[in-house]
Amino acid sequence: MDKITFTVNGVQHCVGSEVYPTKTLLEYIRHDLALTGTKYMCLEGGCGACIVSVVKSPGRTPESINSCLVSISSCMNWDITTIEGLGNREKGYHPLQMQLAENNGSQCGYCSPGMVMNMYNVAQSENTMKQIERALGSNICRCTGYRPILQTFKKYAVDAPNPKTLAIEELSISGNSGCCSTKSGCCSSKKTECCSSKKSDCSSKETQDSKKSSINDWCMVSKNEAQGKLLHIKLKDNTDWYRPTYLKEVFEIFAEQGTESYMLVAGNTEKGVSPRLTYPKCMIDITGIEELRNWYVDQNLVIGATCSMAEMIKRWEEVKGNEGFSYLEEFIMHMDEVAHVSVRNVSFSYVLFDCGTIGGNLMIKSRFPQFQSDVYLVCETCGGQVTVCKFIIIIIIIISLFRVLTSQL
Ligand SMILES: Cc1cc2nc3c(=O)[nH]c(=O)nc-3n(C[C@H](O)[C@H](O)[C@H](O)COP(=O)(O)OP(=O)(O)OC[C@H]3O[C@@H](n4cnc5c(N)ncnc54)[C@H](O)[C@@H]3O)c2cc1C
Ligand code: FES
Ligand code: FES
Repeated sequence: MDKITFTVNGVQHCVGSEVYPTKTLLEYIRHDLALTGTKYMCLEGGCGACIVSVVKSPGRTPESINSCLVSISSCMNWDITTIEGLGNREKGYHPLQMQLAENNGSQCGYCSPGMVMNMYNVAQSENTMKQIERALGSNICRCTGYRPILQTFKKYAVDAPNPKTLAIEELSISGNSGCCSTKSGCCSSKKTECCSSKKSDCSSKETQDSKKSSINDWCMVSKNEAQGKLLHIKLKDNTDWYRPTYLKEVFEIFAEQGTESYMLVAGNTEKGVSPRLTYPKCMIDITGIEELRNWYVDQNLVIGATCSMAEMIKRWEEVKGNEGFSYLEEFIMHMDEVAHVSVRNVSFSYVLFDCGTIGGNLMIKSRFPQFQSDVYLVCETCGGQVTVCKFIIIIIIIISLFRVLTSQL
């Protein structure tokens, strides 16, 4: 039976038929791995307490992910770092953790892991103080007050009076520590036999549940094999979970399973918009399909449906100088306003910009017309088009106004 493999703080894990489709990454790291440093509150993507750092594939930069929204079965090949992996009492704290504590940015401390993990990902690139403030709009604090938190992290901005910087090794913790960081892990109990050198020992000393998952046969399947083939797992409640690599495989699944009861899974953030009480019998994770992530400019700008909101804005930035696309500047400003949250009123956070896809957003709009979709708004504004093939949104076309104007002449 196929498995979903991933690493948490450098230690490999896998899940398969023992999990329900509703099991989230948050539940897995807190309950199965006993990594309770990651907190939770809203469970709908709004508070940031559950943020972890994820490298989705080798070479990509770490992203902030709301672990409460992500299904554990969606974590294929992810390299996940939790607050324990960033720094802990045993191996020493990360500078971001120490700075937050030293600058009185942590009172009860409940929001602090999410704040630090988000800042850790933000710090992967250069940011201004304003950008840092906006990025931290994804996180709610209910007791410290935001000033000391923001003051602490803004010191890492390029336009700060005396900017602080993080050393290279402090920016690339993910997957490199080789330490399981579990409370009962071997690093804390047996310092001489660190799990970086003996990973199998590490998993054997983890909690009972994680032990169960770690002894599975993940090492029998190479990463390349797993990436290139259609994964199929019968989950605990008999749901068929698929992870195709090619679009044509989705149609093959439809042919085999029918389309009476199925669900495509992209960022899975819909449940933050409209909680789902029942799940279909067939779930298809479409995030591994490269064809849906492509983009190009012909006369128009064509963007794949599983591109994130952040990627869409990046494309707008790239083509706004082209003839007929200058209006994209207004779109960029609009999205900036949407994402600009006064930190007390969570609206569309930067974290969700990274994981919510544009296809998923439009599909929510289609299912719930009352949903105030900004993707729909921009598509409507420029006469955008959507290409749908057998229930799947394939691409979103942002029209060049140059073409529209010349065709009207
Ligand atoms: C706290 C919060 C605040 C938000 N604020 C805003 C906001 O201010 N403005 C705004 O516009 N949006 C907002 N959103 C919505 C967010 O943008 C969407 O949830 C997200 O874009 C959906 O993408 P996804 O990949 O997570 O979709 P998923 O949750 O994976 O999927 C959503 C639905 O679309 C279907 N689907 C996914 N991809 C496809 C596809 N390619 N073809 C056909 N069907 C598909 C799925 O089956 C599912 O039914 C917010 C969400 C949250 C949680
Ligand atoms: S628990 Fe609030 S964003 Fe996840
Ligand atoms: S320190 Fe208490 S919620 Fe932020």
